[in-house]
Amino acid sequence: MTIKWTDDLNTGIEVIDKQHMRIVDYINDLENARQKQDKEAVRQVLDDLVDYTLSHFAFEESLQEEAEYKYCKPHKKVHELFVRRVNEYMERFKLGNDVSAEIHSLLSLWLINHIKRDDADYVVAVKANMIGIISEKKKKKDDGWFKRFFKQRN
Ligand SMILES: [Fe+2]
Ligand SMILES: [Fe+2]
Repeated sequence: MTIKWTDDLNTGIEVIDKQHMRIVDYINDLENARQKQDKEAVRQVLDDLVDYTLSHFAFEESLQEEAEYKYCKPHKKVHELFVRRVNEYMERFKLGNDVSAEIHSLLSLWLINHIKRDDADYVVAVKANMIGIISEKKKKKDDGWFKRFFKQRN
């Protein structure tokens, strides 16, 4: 079944939503390749999907650390456990077992659930931190202008 992007999947952080959309696209590509019974395409999509998901997790974790999100560690742990499960399936797949249906349902169920629940939870902290960084930069810029202005007058 194709996953359709719905509003409740949006976190409100554009860069994160774009990455999640890309992951959903990969999951749909996996389903297409599976239906065509194209084993090589399945392998390729799986490799890309795992790769992309790993870098997405790392990106998310760094945003959370920077924002001092209070569940940063448990969130990282949840990512790690998921990666371990996916890797187990990948090993079986590489040994020639056709576990692509199981991988597909794990990915679609787990990721959608994770986006809606766990990822939605860090949004407030990360957004507040992002806004803080922007206004801090603006303040520094204003300070610079302010000082320059008075230097010229004195
Ligand atoms: Fe995520
Ligand atoms: Fe996450």
